[in-house]
Amino acid sequence: MRLRKAFNSILIYFDHSALFETKIDITITQKKITKQAGVNYMKGVNLLKITVLMDDAVPGNTDLVAQHGASFFLEIKAEKEKTCVLVDVGQSSKALFHNMSRLNIDPESIDILVLTHCHYDHTGAVVDLLRASKKKDLPIIAHPTLFRPHFACKPVISYIGVPQGNGPLEIEAAGGRLLLSKDPVQVREGVIVLGEIPRKTDFEEPSIKAITIEEGHVKKDMLFDDTALAVNVEGHGIVIVTGCSHSGIVNITLHAKDIFSGIPIEGILGGFHLKDADPEHIEKTVSQLASLKPRWIAAGHCTGFDAMVAFKNYFGDDFTPLHAGKTVTIPKS
Ligand SMILES: [Fe+2]
Ligand SMILES: [Fe+2]
Repeated sequence: MRLRKAFNSILIYFDHSALFETKIDITITQKKITKQAGVNYMKGVNLLKITVLMDDAVPGNTDLVAQHGASFFLEIKAEKEKTCVLVDVGQSSKALFHNMSRLNIDPESIDILVLTHCHYDHTGAVVDLLRASKKKDLPIIAHPTLFRPHFACKPVISYIGVPQGNGPLEIEAAGGRLLLSKDPVQVREGVIVLGEIPRKTDFEEPSIKAITIEEGHVKKDMLFDDTALAVNVEGHGIVIVTGCSHSGIVNITLHAKDIFSGIPIEGILGGFHLKDADPEHIEKTVSQLASLKPRWIAAGHCTGFDAMVAFKNYFGDDFTPLHAGKTVTIPKS
């Protein structure tokens, strides 16, 4: 009943009577995924708590700061072990450390860092964060092309990749140990960095006009480095944590389903980069994502107001907008 009501509301919102006529075809082409040897992809963790350290929004009654960017702190418990994973670091260490301190999160507690893609608003605080973590050889998982030249073209050409001072040498000097992989990487049992995301849908684009340089030639930058983290929570399903979803949030979800074959999607959290998407793109995203049956969606950062309204119309109370300081715990305590 709720689903039908929500589906009607999305039709009203988009006033798009052709939705039922559009064949939603997201058949997974079974492309071989290189899985890590010896990994039990079916084993889950017992508890996942996600705290949003940085987002473009904050609630009115807080002394947390908002800044364009994203950073998520994950506390993962499995049996008696606890692992803390940081997904992205936002753009400024000053803003990040301010929020970490207000949220009582110690940089020294971080065990693993995941960088979802090269953008400055996700990678700007890496070296400062590493120094504050006081760790040696802290694993940093990302795509091999993370440090490529990456320039936005509108309105004036400008560099928007990993900021100066946060390159591979500086990262390793500050205590980080880079693990750059196109393949999925297991962080611990039940926790996988998805690696390069196959582009399967016909409507999801990198959603940003950018160029890179390859062997002296200018090329359209398809943001193949864009990835996400997936956590299999025992008895609940997969929680996907994404930075900007430049590879497409439907593509990301399909890839997570491929990797954790047969396990349902519990929730999807992060930035979906639909802020400049047209209504048809938003409509397809909502309907195709809905067909993958996540129990909830929590979106912020670059998702955009129109997309948030569309998700809210479809998912009702199962959609939550993100803000700095928000926490999500699975299972709910
Ligand atoms: Fe972003
Ligand atoms: Fe981005």
